[in-house]
Amino acid sequence: MKQIMFLVSLIFLFGQIVFVQESPIIIETQHTALVYKTDRQNRLVQVYLGEKLNLPAEYNKMFSMNEAYVPSGMDNLFEPAVRMLHNDGNPSLSLKFAGGEVSEVDNNVSLTRITLKDDVYPVEVTLFFKAFQKEDVIETWTEIRHNEKEPVVLSNFASSMLQFDKRDYWLTQFHGDWAKEMLMQESQLTSGIKIIDSKLGTRANKFQAPMFFLSMNDPSTETEGEVIAGTLAWTGNFQFSFEITPTNTLRVISGINPFASEYHLKPGEVFKTPGFIFTYSFKGKGDASRNLHKWAQKYQVLHGEGERLTLLNNWEATYFDFNEDRLVELFDGAKKLGVDLFLLDDGWFANKYPRNHDRAGLGDWQENKEKLPHGIGYLVEQAEAKGIKFGIWIEPEMVNPKSELYENHPEWILKLPNRPEHYSRNQLVLDMSNPEVQKFVFDVVDQMLTKHPEIGFIKWDCNREMTNEYSQFLGEKQSHIYIDYVNGFYKVMDDLRKKYPDLPIMLCSGGGGRTDYGAMKYFTEFWPSDNTDAYDRIFIQWGYSYFFPANTICNHITSMGDQSLKFRTDVAMMGKMGYDIRVEEFSDEELAFSQKALQDYERIKDVIWFGNMYRLISPYEESRAALMYVNETKGKAVLFCFDIYAYRENITSQVKLQGLDPDKKYELKEINVQQGRRRMPFMGQNENSNVFTGDYLMKVGFNIREGREDLSSHVYEISVAD
Ligand code: GLA
Repeated sequence: MKQIMFLVSLIFLFGQIVFVQESPIIIETQHTALVYKTDRQNRLVQVYLGEKLNLPAEYNKMFSMNEAYVPSGMDNLFEPAVRMLHNDGNPSLSLKFAGGEVSEVDNNVSLTRITLKDDVYPVEVTLFFKAFQKEDVIETWTEIRHNEKEPVVLSNFASSMLQFDKRDYWLTQFHGDWAKEMLMQESQLTSGIKIIDSKLGTRANKFQAPMFFLSMNDPSTETEGEVIAGTLAWTGNFQFSFEITPTNTLRVISGINPFASEYHLKPGEVFKTPGFIFTYSFKGKGDASRNLHKWAQKYQVLHGEGERLTLLNNWEATYFDFNEDRLVELFDGAKKLGVDLFLLDDGWFANKYPRNHDRAGLGDWQENKEKLPHGIGYLVEQAEAKGIKFGIWIEPEMVNPKSELYENHPEWILKLPNRPEHYSRNQLVLDMSNPEVQKFVFDVVDQMLTKHPEIGFIKWDCNREMTNEYSQFLGEKQSHIYIDYVNGFYKVMDDLRKKYPDLPIMLCSGGGGRTDYGAMKYFTEFWPSDNTDAYDRIFIQWGYSYFFPANTICNHITSMGDQSLKFRTDVAMMGKMGYDIRVEEFSDEELAFSQKALQDYERIKDVIWFGNMYRLISPYEESRAALMYVNETKGKAVLFCFDIYAYRENITSQVKLQGLDPDKKYELKEINVQQGRRRMPFMGQNENSNVFTGDYLMKVGFNIREGREDLSSHVYEISVAD
């Protein structure tokens, strides 16, 4: 095929580079480049996505036929990125390059915008690429607008379309269900199309999580292989489609799920798609995760680099069965343990239909007079008197049919006319597309915080997805509900964050349903699963660790599961540790162990939260798991090791550490040691020798296995030896 040489023509304008003709548009991070050009028909084509070249001029030599953002209706034979029905009934788009510019946001971030225009209809599509140099992350989204007389109908609206030309493609996806989140599966893509999506309306995650790895040619490991990690910042229906064309090109289209979501876009209105975030690693999945963690903490998660509170929650300790006195007793437990905050969960509200179970009261956000005769104010006071903060659970987007809210505002509820109501956890979803409902939800939080400004934490739940939904507010535009619901939720969160920028809020959705970076902009942390069995949690937290940093993943020590308190504590310590347990039932020994664990956690939490994470041994591959965090200066590290059902295998291989400085000497000290238990000696060394070079630890490692005991675990604090 004849190679076309493009003229590079750039104008510098007010510090921005403006592309006025066909020129390679290079979007670069520290190690990655994404390069576009135009073809003979002036269409934008993706010529490269891969390792950055030393000589940018060499991108000129590249050529490709892969249109960058393929519209439907012209010559396209595969899944399109965008589809539009014009006022005259014409269902086609033909997008031509119309210019672009790149601007520096700061010395780490650049923003490239490429404008495409239809050559017949007044339609403009702008592709945005925000490149984060140091973190090797690119966030990409699209804006679609038009100037036709009447609204056009959009039926596909990808955030991103990326194309690859490799021998083979390996997809890692994360699936699950309630209490079974983030199970990992890897498979080779075959010809045709593979879609990962969700149609849950109020959340992205439950059955399929909005994230994936795509390995090029061969499956990647933690330390080797070319791999993309991608995720969509959208708290609703998402879709990733992976299509291999007959020429073995892979098209990856990411965005809001177009399912039942035709969007009527008014003239002049802008349809902005959510960001698709990806990193391209040439050193395996571990590196990709670390890139995303750093990016998320610095740029996406609310106060991602800030402090977090340790807490005691009462959900698994009491469920709905508590009163004021019982809660105040529980505060004592929190105080004794040494956590920062007590979190009051579900069951504290509603009077006409008291919230004594999940069948009534949701929507009526007044304190239940029987349980809390002196109201929230009294609880806040009591907590403060004991030297802890007070936090509270809400689920403001939902309603029980047995509630005053349901009786007073049936028009605010999503439900089909002429059909029976369909319940999930005995509840229905409020219509967040309706500004009146948005105001109601805002007021629930605002009024509570205005009355009790001392409230130090909120857990925001959302326990069901949409079914049988119909919005009385949207009328004929029912196909807007999935998109407008999420935008309504974001509107409320935007308004709340303007007024309450710092309040820590945990995102929860019947376990880990709202685990996406669209929501994490407003939240400091999330609840990964209602399953707190420590054995299952190793897998659940492992799954989340691929995409989320440790300080966002709330791990609570509970009495679910029959593992030792030590094992449960060790598992919880891998992220943001907390408790949801009856502290008064602890033996003296258990209490002392937990107090010590919290003190140790205080000392090492910065390494866990902000260090670089290395997954050393996967529980998917062996009957053990090991993971470590190393701080930026490589002076401190924390290593977590778990034996899980060890009797099945006889593993002798040593665990090699990662991320340390080979020239430094490190001392290993075991923490979270149970009374009366022997500390773990290091293989190949005598019992007193616990100082090793980083070189030794990374090349030789040591044995983390303690005999053949099932469900045993060890945590090591690793510090530079004097
Ligand atoms: C959901 C949450 C739990 C708890 C209950 C309360 O299931 O995931 O943690 O808050 O709701 O009803």
